[in-house]
Amino acid sequence: MKCVTVFLAIVLLSSAANAKVFKRCELVKLLRDTYHMPHLATWVCIAQKESNYNTAAVNKQSGDHGIFQISEKYWCNQGNRGCGHKCSDFENDNISDDVKCVLKIYKETAKFQGDGFNAWTTYSQCKGNVQKYVQGC
Ligand SMILES: *[C@@H]1O[C@H](CO)[C@@H](O)[C@H](O)[C@H]1NC(C)=O
Repeated sequence: MKCVTVFLAIVLLSSAANAKVFKRCELVKLLRDTYHMPHLATWVCIAQKESNYNTAAVNKQSGDHGIFQISEKYWCNQGNRGCGHKCSDFENDNISDDVKCVLKIYKETAKFQGDGFNAWTTYSQCKGNVQKYVQGC
């Protein structure tokens, strides 16, 4: 019993070690300077609404993973379909695969729904003036 408890604590700690909660400007700089993301302010807004900038965020009910809450229904855990990653890849502190995946989701969604951001329900809160999400960074 005690062994199980210790084991669980280690699992929780090691997964927490790979997690990261970004500061707003830290995320802005990474998305802007490293990943050259278009529509930067909207992406930062979506990350805030979806996960509050927490890379380890998981919504067990909807099955969404990571800082951008990538959906397991379509985009992870499906071998070569979707983004070709395990959902857990979207929960660590390296968001390069998350960025690649959300750009793909955006592009695929745009084909059918005009605006690729429609893949995120929180987009409704990120329309209009989102400049405050990148301000001062
Ligand atoms: C993040 O992951 C990518 C691809 O998996 C890799 O190329 C990159 O070096 C990693 N970045 C860091 C900071 O570990």
